[in-house]
Amino acid sequence: MLTRRTLLTGGAAAVGAYGVGFGLSGVRGTARAASEPVIIETTFADVPIMAPNATQKAMTYRSSSLSADLMPPTLRIKRGEPFSARLVNRLDEPTTIHWHGLRIPNAVDGVPFLTQPYVYPGDSFDYTFSAPDAGTFWYHPHCNTLTQMGRGLTGMLIVEDAADPVFDAEIALNLRDWRLGGDGQFIEQFKARDAAKSGTFGTVRTANWTIEPSYDAPTGGLVRLRLVASDVTRLYNLRLEGADAVIVALDGQPLPSPAALGMATLSPGQRLDLVVRMPASEGSVAQLVDVRPSTPKIVARFRATGASLTRTLEDVPPLSPNAPVEYDLGSATEIPLVLSATAEQASVESICGTLGYSFWAINKKPWPGDTDDPTAPLAEMKLGRTYLINLENVTPHAHPIHLHGMNFVPVSSSKQVVTKLPSDTYLVLPDEKVQLALVADNPGDWVLHCHIIEHQKTGMTSYVRVI
Ligand code: C2O
Ligand code: CU
Repeated sequence: MLTRRTLLTGGAAAVGAYGVGFGLSGVRGTARAASEPVIIETTFADVPIMAPNATQKAMTYRSSSLSADLMPPTLRIKRGEPFSARLVNRLDEPTTIHWHGLRIPNAVDGVPFLTQPYVYPGDSFDYTFSAPDAGTFWYHPHCNTLTQMGRGLTGMLIVEDAADPVFDAEIALNLRDWRLGGDGQFIEQFKARDAAKSGTFGTVRTANWTIEPSYDAPTGGLVRLRLVASDVTRLYNLRLEGADAVIVALDGQPLPSPAALGMATLSPGQRLDLVVRMPASEGSVAQLVDVRPSTPKIVARFRATGASLTRTLEDVPPLSPNAPVEYDLGSATEIPLVLSATAEQASVESICGTLGYSFWAINKKPWPGDTDDPTAPLAEMKLGRTYLINLENVTPHAHPIHLHGMNFVPVSSSKQVVTKLPSDTYLVLPDEKVQLALVADNPGDWVLHCHIIEHQKTGMTSYVRVI
């Protein structure tokens, strides 16, 4: 039986050997003091997504001290330790960074006008915080997001904890699509008729900006696979073929004990941490597959290399838990939150990437989204009190609803067995009613929106105020 201790000692070398190029490049960032920010530049880049033509004018985050890759660096920070990033905007339009899933102060949440000014071209903004939860998170702009995220601005953020078990390898995969034509160039980012349904899908699927990438990992070894769905539209139904795996965390939050992976749904904004037991024979290949489309698509391949380590999934320890949400249902104030379609399709005035339509509503109101004159919040919450969001989806589409700044716990659903784990993003199914409990423990104005960005930008966004 492999204990956490043997995993810790046995795993370290293999991580170095197999981890290069997929995530460990961020390690150097962890040694920095808060006074010495990591420089993260938003820039245009021509990127080789589809051979042979480079895709012109993609957008990316570059951090020369962390990674030479074209794709945004996977940032690695330590739980509870100060981290400081300086966003330097080299685009020709304003931007910001939102740290998705991190429970950090409102002033560094990255929502233009609600929490900070625009970062104009040539300007910079310092984000300093320490992350209270360990796990898999991500970062992206909160400004003109359909374009900026659609063109590349989505990166992974891993919060490490000293108590994290170490596995034989670790692979971080950023799952997203691109809307490219046959010549590899960007095409219109959305179609209005699709925005009014499930959203407009990309034409080219990638993991880590690569079509069907392949990774080597130790034969018979245990690999921690960190996945984020950073696409603006796509939901995945993930299965693993040719190997077994357990789920160890959902949306960055550890499961009390690892659960066998059958099929896991991952919707925009959500994360999934798996531990994969690599095939026992060298050269064998396991593949992660999205079975949601009628023809399943390969997401990534993992090839067993080297002599077998003969680990088993029973060796996988639970991850150490993050802070629970200490809600008190007896004293909870209920907040209705009804998601619906709206008949009104007029353009809503906004300055941060509204698409010119409204198709969706929260509590019957199509919200204008990012604006320099926000309307009243959806709800005002008192610091420290418990709230129960009665979320009801009366549309025929699924919506990944994301709350900034605080975690909630789904406590009951009309359609699914809820895991009762803390989370920041809940995929509400068509006609589902779900109750999300939270403690209003983080003061400020916090956005709550659908993470299908076309829905967010055509009415399905709002915010709550904690005072
Ligand atoms: Cu992933 Cu409002 O954010
Ligand atoms: Cu939606």
